[in-house]
Amino acid sequence: MADAAAGDPGDGDFRLLMDYAHGFMVSQVLFTASDLGLFEALAPGPLETAAVARALGSSPRGTRLLLDACAGLGLVRAEPGRGGGGPAFTLTRLSRLFLLVGSPLSQRSMLRYLAGTTARCWGELGGAVREGRSQYARAVGVATREPFVAIYRSSAERLLFMRALQDTWSVYGARVLTAFDLSGFRVICDVGGGSGALAAACARLHPTSSVSVFDTHDVIATARAHFRRPRGDPPIRFLGGDFFRSPLPRADLYILARVLHDWTDADAARLLGRIGRAGGRGSALLLVEAVLTPGGRGPARALLLSLTMLLQTRGRERTEAEFRAMAAAAGFTRFQRRPTGGDLEVMLARK
Ligand SMILES: C[S@@+](CC[C@H](N)C(=O)[O-])C[C@H]1O[C@@H](n2cnc3c(N)ncnc32)[C@H](O)[C@@H]1O
Repeated sequence: MADAAAGDPGDGDFRLLMDYAHGFMVSQVLFTASDLGLFEALAPGPLETAAVARALGSSPRGTRLLLDACAGLGLVRAEPGRGGGGPAFTLTRLSRLFLLVGSPLSQRSMLRYLAGTTARCWGELGGAVREGRSQYARAVGVATREPFVAIYRSSAERLLFMRALQDTWSVYGARVLTAFDLSGFRVICDVGGGSGALAAACARLHPTSSVSVFDTHDVIATARAHFRRPRGDPPIRFLGGDFFRSPLPRADLYILARVLHDWTDADAARLLGRIGRAGGRGSALLLVEAVLTPGGRGPARALLLSLTMLLQTRGRERTEAEFRAMAAAAGFTRFQRRPTGGDLEVMLARK
């Protein structure tokens, strides 16, 4: 006999299916509203549709439908208008905190990156699954298996990628760096540290420690040119090189944030081995990554991130047991893990 709820549009499974099927529209509303400058238009205060359309240079009809969709998703709020032109729209806590360009917690560069390169790569998911590898050739016309050749295919893309990743640290930086007491580490190196945002936050928390960023020469040059630190911030050092080939600096603590998930098990082991040999006897490793549940069945967002890694890198997300084993193989045998309350978790492994 058929399931009692089958054929009922209120069926929980059917609703879930519809949520999943329409998920791309939610992202597109968010990306488009951001790209058009809708949130900046509303920043000074509530506006009716006609005023928003004038500010955006967009059609009143399209603007109204976009505003209504944003209101339905909680990105803006509708309140009674005064000018007889329908409701006035205003920012919500979510949009005020995270969606305004220039706000301290803004995620706008991350959204631009997701809307551009990542969304285009996701359009090629079928090819990635069939072939088991990244899809830059189809998605952005760059035929290479070297992830960072494709990711950094132009100076504009390099800068956007660095800004996008930096957005994360405005929300997670303090959580990640205070999950463990790092005050005993005098020399700290953020390997693959990108713009230096996490390293800078680390230097602010531990101003008597020497903090450096090790990344490719081009990334270091971009960090120096485009990511100025506030005056009075403790200094951080920038070191350029290839972490698979160049000598790594000696440090007490090596941070690896969102680096291992870019690489195969063999490449990740090679990098960890090099770090293990570069560090002194009492050195430690701070890993910051999404962590899969035992057996790799969840959480769902980490599994989606694993597919992003398939599409854009050579890596995948891993379980705690995998991180623990990889760290131990490089000599970092004493392993602890702390959650941050978000998608990224922190693991400290000491020799
Ligand atoms: C996914 S990003 C993470 C950046 C930063 N840790 C964060 O979480 O915001 C990976 C970083 O590894 C760097 N990287 C990749 N290959 C590298 C190599 N061979 N040598 C040095 N750095 C490299 C990239 O330039 C990039 O900054």
